[in-house]
Amino acid sequence: MKVKFNVLLIGSGGREHAIAWKISQSSKLNKLICIPGNPGISSIAECINCSPDNHLEVLKIVVEYKIDIVVCGPEVPLANGIMDFLKYKVSDSCILIGPEQLGAQLESSKRFSKEFMLRHKIPTASYQSFNLAQLSDAKKFIQSMNTPIVLKADGLAAGKGVIICKDHTQANNEIEEMLNGKFGEASTEVVIEEFLKGIEFSYFVLTDGNEFIELPEAKDYKRIGEQDTGLNTGGMGSISPVSFVDDQLREKVRIKIINPTIQGLKKENIPYQGFIFFGLIKVENEPYVIEYNCRLGDPETESIMLRIKNDLIDLFVACGNNQLGTVKMEFNNEFAATVFLVSKGYPGEIEKDKMISNYNLDNYSSKVFHAGTRYAEEKLLTQGGRVIAISSLASTKQEAVALSLDLAEKIQYDGKYYRRDIGFDL
Ligand code: AMP
Ligand code: GLY
Repeated sequence: MKVKFNVLLIGSGGREHAIAWKISQSSKLNKLICIPGNPGISSIAECINCSPDNHLEVLKIVVEYKIDIVVCGPEVPLANGIMDFLKYKVSDSCILIGPEQLGAQLESSKRFSKEFMLRHKIPTASYQSFNLAQLSDAKKFIQSMNTPIVLKADGLAAGKGVIICKDHTQANNEIEEMLNGKFGEASTEVVIEEFLKGIEFSYFVLTDGNEFIELPEAKDYKRIGEQDTGLNTGGMGSISPVSFVDDQLREKVRIKIINPTIQGLKKENIPYQGFIFFGLIKVENEPYVIEYNCRLGDPETESIMLRIKNDLIDLFVACGNNQLGTVKMEFNNEFAATVFLVSKGYPGEIEKDKMISNYNLDNYSSKVFHAGTRYAEEKLLTQGGRVIAISSLASTKQEAVALSLDLAEKIQYDGKYYRRDIGFDL
């Protein structure tokens, strides 16, 4: 039985920094490699500048560094088949955490995921799916719906492919634009679905395709403005646990959503080893699926990594050996809160290359996770919309948020913006 493991982590965001941090805490870790990584990750792992879509290069790294476990953070490399490629090329003992293309369709095709839910009677908004040749049918369907109406590009659109239309006119205009390429390839097919009114939360499992373990739930804050106003972003912060997710709701999620999802994958011979992220909404005490993702959430991961007590490598090894049923999950019962610092202009056009100062602030209860940062001549610069996530753990939600806000204040760069009200609605 192996006692020390070499791990390759794929990705470069705040989620991957949080995963890397948690892996780096493991007593079972020999070496952590990250491609391409980021400045924060480079302080705890060896970062190699390799594109996750360059499959041959990735394979070379797996072989050269005698990698035992490959973990993929983001969805795009999974949808592009990194795991399909590695599966037949790496040794049998190498554990791959992340699904192959077939399973990744849960996220990469809204139509696939809606049809899957329908087949397995998993609660979700009612819908129909259309292509350009069916535009007039799509408009007829729109006319038959109550407002608001939700339009979703079928493919991956970097979190931008969902439009909530307040009336039929807007929906008719949008469907036409979408089917005519508003989101490129991603919107050659569009799902039109019923609007669900409720409160959203994020639920995560790690599965080997047969058994699964549940991770802490979280809630993310997607809007740029306080009180959930303004444009959608990649996520401005998160909280875990979520106060309204009680044992009764958890049981419903397990019975009505997780079990039939895992069983459904199995019945359809879709192999799945990795994380499933259930984007859920509670409508009058019943959980519905808004979307599936084939990975962990960002910025939920930054919060939940602080609460998981288990050694992450143990979980990956159990997953790879089909032993998840023997794992007992242990969570810290305190509250984790993540506050994201973003660039001026985000989520629109942003200003980049601002020098960041006073960012080495990790302490016992707070972690500074890099997302859109880069080094240039030993200076740390901003390079993305979402720059740094600050995650804190404390005995109350208010305290956890206050700890993160305290560091948010201290880290400096021109145009820094963040929400001060993460968790306001809980
Ligand atoms: P998605 O990319 O599918 O997660 O959608 C982005 C966001 O749009 C979700 O987080 C929800 O806030 C919202 N949304 C998507 N589908 C629905 C729906 N059927 N009803 C209400 N809101 C939705
Ligand atoms: N926080 C939502 C996502 O990662 O898609």
